[in-house]
Amino acid sequence: MSTGMSVESVVQAVYLVAGVLFVLSLAGLSRQETARRGVLLGMCGMVLALAATVALALVRSERPVGVTAGLILLVLLVGAAVGTWRARTVEMTQMPELIALLHSFVGAAAVLVGFGSYLTEPATPGAGGTVHLVEVFLGVLIGAVTLTGSVVAFGKLSARLRSSPLLLPGRNWLNLAAVVACGGLLWWFLTAPAVGLVPLLLMTLVALALGWHLVAAIGGGDMPVVVSMLNSYSGWAAAAAGFMLGNDLLIITGALVGSSGAILSYLMCRAMNRSFVSVILGGFGAETGAAAPGGPVEPGTYRETTALEVADRLTAARSVIVVPGYGMAVAKAQYPVADLVARLTARGTTVRFGIHPVAGRLPGHMNVLLAEAKVPYDQVLGMDEINGDFPATDVVLVIGANDTVNPAAQDDPGSPIAGMPVLEVWQAQEVVVFKRSMATGYAGVQNPLFFRENTAMLFGDAKEQVELIVQAL
Ligand code: TAP
Repeated sequence: MSTGMSVESVVQAVYLVAGVLFVLSLAGLSRQETARRGVLLGMCGMVLALAATVALALVRSERPVGVTAGLILLVLLVGAAVGTWRARTVEMTQMPELIALLHSFVGAAAVLVGFGSYLTEPATPGAGGTVHLVEVFLGVLIGAVTLTGSVVAFGKLSARLRSSPLLLPGRNWLNLAAVVACGGLLWWFLTAPAVGLVPLLLMTLVALALGWHLVAAIGGGDMPVVVSMLNSYSGWAAAAAGFMLGNDLLIITGALVGSSGAILSYLMCRAMNRSFVSVILGGFGAETGAAAPGGPVEPGTYRETTALEVADRLTAARSVIVVPGYGMAVAKAQYPVADLVARLTARGTTVRFGIHPVAGRLPGHMNVLLAEAKVPYDQVLGMDEINGDFPATDVVLVIGANDTVNPAAQDDPGSPIAGMPVLEVWQAQEVVVFKRSMATGYAGVQNPLFFRENTAMLFGDAKEQVELIVQAL
């Protein structure tokens, strides 16, 4: 008993240290310069947390300690093997879908912990019991919504499901009805302990359908917000599991993930000029976007250019801005792009990067790629910092970006992306757009930029084209 007690107090102390490490880790992750340290602190925190939790499980084990240790070791090995394999093989462009899938695991875990906790620790309504029952109910509810919502997000991000929003008639009433039904089921769950499993199971089904429908109704340009929103839900699901298991560290960690995800969702909404409520209610990018996807907005013609011509223009230019997008990630063009920029900078040309907050497929996608290619941080500017500089710029290289440089967002109130802030590249003297075809970007909207007089299209794989330019220089 006394070893049990002392191990438990050591474990609580270790949990506290791990919690502090997680907070420091998040603080580190907020800036590129300190991000690596942030990741390391987070890893240390997680190792401590795992070690302490395993120690606690062994002390509390009702089976022979060897059996418990063996079981834990087995699942750790399987998890570590699968995790290591996925982390080594995943392409940078598949990261968002992998993250969405991982969120669904957190949701599934919360559902399982909820049922496990309900079935093994039967609580009867009354002071403490009611609190536990509410924890179980909410944990399963949040977990189930996160589970199916994340699976749909995974499908949409990996193009296994259509990215356009599913618009069922009266969809907001359907969601409201699901929430009301869950409220009714909670009341039944608390007042009829004998049949508690029935309302719990019914609510799980309703919540699974709600999660599915909520995310299915969100499409196109709102997907970035959905990813961070599900990140937030997965945090709350983990915190709920922490309450059910009486694990303080899980509550702290869940709350950190939940609130940082919520803050990120808010920032992404602001970047997209969308209100959080309208994102949740879904349907963005449907009305006009679905009616005329990809159809040219301006019947005009476009001008093609070659790598040699672009190299000539760059040699003459005094100031250049590079605007990367999802296509740079697909082509893995960040290395030749960094090389090109280094060469131009060495010649005395002013070269900077302009990064849109939702360029690519996950928050900070472009920053990660450019950091990987060792581009100096002070050359990488955010949209608000650089938007005023385009009129004084000679050449803008748009490398695999599309929606984030679409002037229709400003000029065409009927456009599905109307109101979304964009990088005003067309204000520069000349714009070169690197892409493989005239295809649309993620939101499925045609881009009038391609038909402007000062725009030239450089068709082909972005990496190959940039390498050709570097050779020509
Ligand atoms: P997009 O609008 O997605 O356009 C990417 C462009 O890259 C496409 O037009 C494509 O044209 C081109 N491309 C693809 N592969 C290429 C290659 N190998 N070489 C050259 N070009 C290539 O990109 P964006 O401007 O970065 O906008 C991001 C979009 O994704 C926004 O709509 C945003 O809302 C959405 N989204 C963002 C996130 C986050 S969190 N950032 C998450 C989910 C969705 P071709 O096919 O003709 O080559």
